[in-house]
Amino acid sequence: MRDLRISVTDRCNFRCSYCMPFDEYKWIERQEVLSFEEIERVARLFLDFGIQKVRLTGGEPLVRKGLHRLVARLAAIEGLGDLSLTTNGALLAAQAADLYHAGLRRINVSIDTLKAERFTALTKRGNLDDVLAGLFAAKKIGMAPIKVNAVIIRGTNDDEILDLVDFARTNGFEMRFIEYMDVGNANAWSLEKTVTKKEILETVHARFPVREIGRANGSAPAVDYEFLDGAGEIGIIGSVTEPFCSSCTRLRLTADGKLVTCLFAESGFDLKALIRSGAPDDVIRAQVANLWSVRTDRYSDIRWEQVRSGGYQARDHKKIEMITLGG
Ligand SMILES: C[S@@+](CC[C@H](N)C(=O)[O-])C[C@H]1O[C@@H](n2cnc3c(N)ncnc32)[C@H](O)[C@@H]1O
Ligand code: SF4
Repeated sequence: MRDLRISVTDRCNFRCSYCMPFDEYKWIERQEVLSFEEIERVARLFLDFGIQKVRLTGGEPLVRKGLHRLVARLAAIEGLGDLSLTTNGALLAAQAADLYHAGLRRINVSIDTLKAERFTALTKRGNLDDVLAGLFAAKKIGMAPIKVNAVIIRGTNDDEILDLVDFARTNGFEMRFIEYMDVGNANAWSLEKTVTKKEILETVHARFPVREIGRANGSAPAVDYEFLDGAGEIGIIGSVTEPFCSSCTRLRLTADGKLVTCLFAESGFDLKALIRSGAPDDVIRAQVANLWSVRTDRYSDIRWEQVRSGGYQARDHKKIEMITLGG
């Protein structure tokens, strides 16, 4: 294991149609949410297993009160080389300085469209100007690298691939395109709506020629490309059409302390119960080691095999919602 994603809350101030289409969900009770002390302990324990990267996510991480205090705790852990945050950016303008001073440098801001009306339609509760204000506040305070995540959905925002690339190139951000996936159980995913990595690459390359650099490390989900004119890089995550289960080194910690070894898992291991029962570090380590050693996750591989043979039914498999899991 190399990469730990920590969901700090399952709540969100947006309702993106591809992620969290309903107004209400069965939310995690407050007392079940891990405290900052508990999260820090888990992060420290995981360093012993070789975790090199920790990313804070959710739900929307910035709706968790005082998140910069968690960032400060994690940034102070010796040996944790890479701490990052994925956010929808709506509350970033107000928090960028606190997060920066707490030690956060790497940030991903999700922006699927640069059209204000479309943005509000897609996110239901979002305002593009607020998000752009957050993005530029992060830049101004000195965060780097800043990546802009966009999920490309056919018939929704696939006409904006080049506009998004142009925007990122012009402003010194790195675009990250993500294939639309069948996460959770509610987003009405269909393969036809997934704009493939190959299509995205061809569109970008025809206007802004690129050269493949490869994956940042052997197990990174994104394949990176650099512009031949030297104006930066883009990444594309082809998790549907180019699944990478066999090289996956990622674990997720849900806001209520479940350890989950796959984005498409049906359940997780209740680490919080172990922690709150007073288990010492070596007992927790032994349980985690066991969980990881018996892991057989390969959902995306199987889905792609089934999609190609025509036998795939998204509804057949009950998954944990992405807002609970931590995207
Ligand atoms: C679940 S969100 C959590 C963090 C934060 N709320 C945000 O939107 O950045 C993390 C990432 O997952 C992506 N995502 C959500 N649903 C997706 C889907 N069905 N397919 C692909 N990516 C998805 C979002 O676009 C976002 O970039
Ligand atoms: S993608 Fe992020 S902002 Fe949108 S609903 Fe999901 S968690 Fe919220």
